[in-house]
Amino acid sequence: MAEIVRLDEKLAERHLDDLRELLTDAVEDGAAVTFLAPIPRHQAAAFWRGRIEAIAAGTCVLLAAFDGGKLVGSVQITLDTPPNQRHRADINKLVVLRSARRRGIARALMEAVHREAAVERRTLLTLDTRKDDAAEPLYRSLGYIEIGVIPRYSRNSSGTLDDATFFYKELS
Ligand SMILES: CC(C)(COP(=O)(O)OP(=O)(O)OC[C@H]1O[C@@H](n2cnc3c(N)ncnc32)[C@H](O)[C@@H]1OP(=O)(O)O)[C@@H](O)C(=O)NCCC(=O)NCCS
Repeated sequence: MAEIVRLDEKLAERHLDDLRELLTDAVEDGAAVTFLAPIPRHQAAAFWRGRIEAIAAGTCVLLAAFDGGKLVGSVQITLDTPPNQRHRADINKLVVLRSARRRGIARALMEAVHREAAVERRTLLTLDTRKDDAAEPLYRSLGYIEIGVIPRYSRNSSGTLDDATFFYKELS
């Protein structure tokens, strides 16, 4: 089973190349994770550098899954919510390497998200995913409640627009 580790800024910096590879692997496969294929190397690296700055600023929790010492997945908790929503957090960019999928790694990352969100005293989690993507049944099985679907929410690498499903979960 993969080991889930919370990366501080030093550890994240050390794994910058692995994180870049992880994001590139997903984007090249057509995943709906912010970027469009082909994602330039410098753009993927710049994204992770921004996340490392956010970890240092205390506004991002970055969890990584390691399998046999190799980084195979990650997910983020975004904590920079407005002052009146400090009990809430967004979950972003749950990604597992194509070569490591369907082995429970995303589920393990999300279970770790729930533990770390509690550590950060966040009791309401929100997230979204492209409608009908593989993450939808995962979120439902973890107790996320569907709020609804926004049509034509984000563009894909083929140039068309995809619907997005929005979810929330309250941690007891
Ligand atoms: C979505 C993703 C993170 C799942 O990672 P994973 O490690 O393969 O997922 P798991 O093995 O933990 O599977 C957990 C559940 O997700 C669902 N699931 C995962 N892959 C699926 C697929 N290809 N088709 C249908 N359901 C799938 C299933 O419900 C599964 O539970 P089960 O194994 O009991 O049936 C991975 O496919 C991925 O990185 N996709 C690209 C990025 C992305 O779309 N991320 C979501 C952004 S919100």
